[in-house]
Order: sequence, then structure tokens, then C-alpha cells
Amino acid sequence: MSGSTSGGGIRRGGERRSVAPVGGDLPDLARALRRRWATGVAVVTTTAPDGFRGITVSSLMLVSLDPPLLAFCPAVEGSFADLIAASGSFAVSILDRDQTILADRFAARGPLPDAALSGIRHEVHDSGLPVLTGALAWAICEVVSHLEAGDHWLTLGRIVDGTILPDTDDPLLTYEGQYRGLEAE
Ligand SMILES: Cc1cc2nc3c(=O)[nH]c(=O)nc-3n(C[C@H](O)[C@H](O)[C@H](O)COP(=O)(O)O)c2cc1C
Repeated sequence: MSGSTSGGGIRRGGERRSVAPVGGDLPDLARALRRRWATGVAVVTTTAPDGFRGITVSSLMLVSLDPPLLAFCPAVEGSFADLIAASGSFAVSILDRDQTILADRFAARGPLPDAALSGIRHEVHDSGLPVLTGALAWAICEVVSHLEAGDHWLTLGRIVDGTILPDTDDPLLTYEGQYRGLEAE
């Protein structure tokens, strides 16, 4: 296997045709694949010595039902993975479409939330973890494993509590770097 790509190509009917050329290297391809994978958007929160921290993620994945396990991938660069490792727990709030401002803020695309989450409607669960008011659902997780996986960690958590809130039928989605809505068939 080479460490680069010519930009893609699919053999169909004997002809090789180029699809969505993406630069010359595999990390560019991986980035393009990530953008092409439509997902929901969540905010993962955890505790820090001075209060709370959170990041916006699209890497959320429900891994197992019994036991209930979920995973997400925080970047190796950045402080959030270290905070997760130190606290041993995290909360996930699945965002509604009317929460794009929160998605931007927790992604450092807007004013970064402070450690008290001032001005951000939230509740503090018995575990001490904050969950965002207005989310479609939330879950409290204990870290099961925290594996380095290239430039991200694969953080696996066991769900120990959670609530499914009334369905607005309008989750926040992301695709090709833009926020989207769901169109029901
Ligand atoms: C829609 C969306 C999805 C994101 N998904 C992830 C993700 O899965 N993992 C990640 O590390 N960063 C993701 N980010 C970027 C982080 O939210 C952002 O880098 C984070 O706020 C940085 O915090 P830190 O420097 O404390 O780690 C995403 C951003 C957006 C807007």
C-alpha cells in the first residue's frame, strides 16, 4: 500500500473514473471521508479542577446495548482528552437543531463557554456532570477505556444514566462541514 492516493477512482464497466479528487495524501482523504459521513452533533462535557469543560463532537458512536457502551474521539492535541482521563467520567448531550450556537461555542467557533458554563442553560446531574438543557437526550458515562488512535483518542464509556427527552423530530446534523436538518420521507 502506498502512503498516497491519486485522488480516487472506481473501476466500473472497465473504465477507471475519478471521483472527488482530494489532494495527494491519505490524511486528506480521511478528512474528506469524515466530511462525507453525515452524523448527528453532540456536546461532551466533563469536570475540570475549576469547573466544567465541553467539546462539540460528531464522532459519537453507540457501541454496545448490553452492557450499554458508547464511544467518541477527542483529539490528542488539546486539553479535553486529558481532562476526561483525569475525571474518569463524561456526559453526552445530543443537540437539537436549534442548538447550533452551542455547537459552535463548544467547538471554539464562538465565545468559548467558561468553566461555570455561564449563560448556557444546563443542569448538573447527581454525578456532578453538566448536561445541556434543550438537548434531545443525554447520557452519563464512566470511562471504560481511553485508547490512543493516531491523532485522536478512542474513548469508550459505560452509560450509567440518561434521559430521552421529547422528540422534536429536528436533530442537529452535520455534513460536508455544514450544519443540516433532517428531512423526513
Ligand atoms: C460539528 C463538529 C464536530 C466535531 N467533532 C469533533 C470530534 O468528534 N472530536 C474532536 O476532537 N473534535 C471535534 N470537533 C472540534 C472540537 O469541538 C473543537 O476542536 C474543540 O472545541 C477543541 O477543544 P480542546 O482544544 O479543548 O480540545 C468538532 C467540531 C464541530 C463543529
